[in-house]
Order: sequence, then structure tokens, then C-alpha cells
Amino acid sequence: MSFDFDTVPDRRSTDSLKWRRYHGRDIIPMWVADMDFRAPACVLEALHARVEHGVFGYAVPPEGLVEAVVERVERRYHWRIEPSWIVWLPGLVPALNLASRAFGDDGDEVLTFTPAYPPFLAAPGHVRREMKVVPLRREGTRWTFDLERFESELSARSRVLLLCNPHNPVGRRYEPDELRGVAEICLGRNVVICSDEIHCDLVLDGGRHVPIATLGEDIAARTITLMAPSKTFNIPGLNCAFAVIPNADLRRPFQKAREGIVPGTNALGYAACLAAYRDGEPWRTALIEYLRRNSRLVYQTVNNEIPGLSMDEVQATYLAWIDTTELGLSEPAKFFEQAGVGLSDGADFLGPGYVRLNFGCPEKTLREGLDRMKRAVDKQMH
Ligand SMILES: Cc1ncc(COP(=O)(O)O)c(C=O)c1O
Repeated sequence: MSFDFDTVPDRRSTDSLKWRRYHGRDIIPMWVADMDFRAPACVLEALHARVEHGVFGYAVPPEGLVEAVVERVERRYHWRIEPSWIVWLPGLVPALNLASRAFGDDGDEVLTFTPAYPPFLAAPGHVRREMKVVPLRREGTRWTFDLERFESELSARSRVLLLCNPHNPVGRRYEPDELRGVAEICLGRNVVICSDEIHCDLVLDGGRHVPIATLGEDIAARTITLMAPSKTFNIPGLNCAFAVIPNADLRRPFQKAREGIVPGTNALGYAACLAAYRDGEPWRTALIEYLRRNSRLVYQTVNNEIPGLSMDEVQATYLAWIDTTELGLSEPAKFFEQAGVGLSDGADFLGPGYVRLNFGCPEKTLREGLDRMKRAVDKQMH
């Protein structure tokens, strides 16, 4: 089966958050994490059919959806989950806030590893918790956890760890041993693990994503795992996500924290999720191939053709974390924006000196973005 990832959809005059930011300006948006691809045909057909029905009352998961999630999680991650463990949500960001809110009291601590996706850094403050950040450690050519530092940062007030695996922005797909190290510390200190695994179906390096909750029943009992079809099938605007919480003693406070504030999802989100999980696998497989090629193009261009920039291999996600520190730019994202490329600024992730580039786009768009970056750096150096 062949799928078209090369056609450039015109999103400029649409409701797209990503494209609206630079409306009317010649800047290629490569910032917020959605892709410039149409969703799979099976998803579009399911949405058409749902719209055709014409009635949009309050929705519950349609028949077959829970089974599709259970089956998929077992097939892909060898994790047998119970339907009762699934909590439907309108997004992962609300879930990060709920997890921060559900445990402990005002002033208690929520920890995360940096650089971090900015909503991780903001969530604790929204719910009167203290944010404590633990920088990832550089080991050879990869980022990993600094377990000693993590342990030393924990206090009697530490309640929740917000973990990101695969990691946005550094693109790591953590290995079981690395995750086990983190989990053991959390278990020893009674810290709840909230593991954001939204990028779990976007592994590019041929490896396997391992949900931290699959490393042992004791770990599963302390973990809230967050997943969604949104990044993988490019439907984040449809607001469909879920948490898997095996332990009722964690599930109850999580549910309580959402009451009256955070609804489940909507009819279109559910319909899209069902179609994507049930019928979207051939599309996803083709997408991974395409993203892998894009990832190689970014890696080679950044490391070999643009002096002053460097990056690691992207193991998972469609995001490249690019080190610009050698260029000594005071505001790297602004520098590239002036050159016509809209990137995310590392400073917002507590990774100053870096920029994050979203390569979830047609190759033509990506090449144009990289050319602009190259020309800007060449000009800066001469
Ligand atoms: C790690 C991570 N979590 C959550 C989100 C957003 O989740 P949602 O749109 O479901 O709130 C993103 C989007 O980029 C992300 O990268």
C-alpha cells in the first residue's frame, strides 16, 4: 500500500496554530509538534461517517475502542491491561496537571528531567506544587538520567515524577535499565511516576519502546502511563488521549482531581482514535519510514553541512534537538526565525543554546527549512 507524505498541504489560511503564528510572513513553521500530513484515510472515513450521522451529544467510548486499546497495548508493548485501568482524557497536558494535583498538598514537590517539554515545567505551579528540575546527564553521545542527582534532589515533600519517554525534546527512547534505575528510586521514596509516552509509536531507530510500567508489577502499581493516538496519527487537534492506571489507589485520586474540570473526549476524537488504532497500522509503518528518512536528512545536514550546529541521532519522535552553542547566538530561535524558519527555543525547555526542529513535514518543506538555516549560518560566519 502506498501513502502520500510528499504533497504539501496548504495550512496557511487554516485554523492551524503552527501556521497561524507566521501568517503573512515567509517563515516555515517547524515548532509546535504536529505534522504537515493529512491523517490516514481510515481516520478521515470514520470522521466523515460520524459527521454524517449528524447528532453530537455527549459521548462515551464507542463500541470496540476499549478492546482496540487493550489489544494494541498488548501487541505492541507486551502489556496486558484491564479495561478498568483506562481513563479517557482530552489530552496529555491536562493529565500532567492532574497527576501533579492528585497527590500531596500545597507546596509539595513534583520533579522532572530537563530539558523538558514546557508544559511539564508549568504544571506543578498551576496546582500549587513546587517544580524541581533534574538535568539529564551527557553520557558519550546521548542524554541519560543522572540517578545520583535525582536521588539527592528528592525530599520528604517529593510526590510525583513527570517522566517523558520517549523524551521530547532530546529524542531518546530510554532503555529498560535506565528506566529501572529511575523506577527503583521512585519506589524507594514513595514517589508516583507519571510517564508521558505520547511518542511511543514514533520509534525511528528500529528499537522498541518499553513502557516503564511493564518493568514490574510493583512499578506498574506506582505508575500513571499516558498515551494517545494524537502524535502518531496527526490528530492532536481532536483531543483524544488516555491514562492507564492499574492501581485503584492512584486512579481514584486522579479521577477525583479531574471532577468537574477535565472532561473525557468528544465523539470525533473517539471515532478517530478507534479508526487509527484498528486500521491505521499500514499508514503508521509508512510514516515511520518517511520520518526516518527525514531524520537522517536533518542529522546529516546539521552535523556535516552547517558548521556550529550539532545534534544526536533521533531515536524517537519527529523532533530534532539542535545544539547551537558554538555559534554563540544570544537568541538562537530568533536568529533562525529572521532567516525564515520558525523553531522552538531551547530556553523554554530549560535548554538554552538549543533549538528544537519539527521534521514531521514533507521532505520538500524540510529541505527548504534546512537550506535557509544553512544560508543563515554561512552568512553569520562570513
Ligand atoms: C511529551 C508531550 N506530551 C504532551 C504533548 C501534548 O499533549 P496533548 O496535546 O495531548 O495535550 C506533547 C506535544 O507536543 C508532547 O510532546
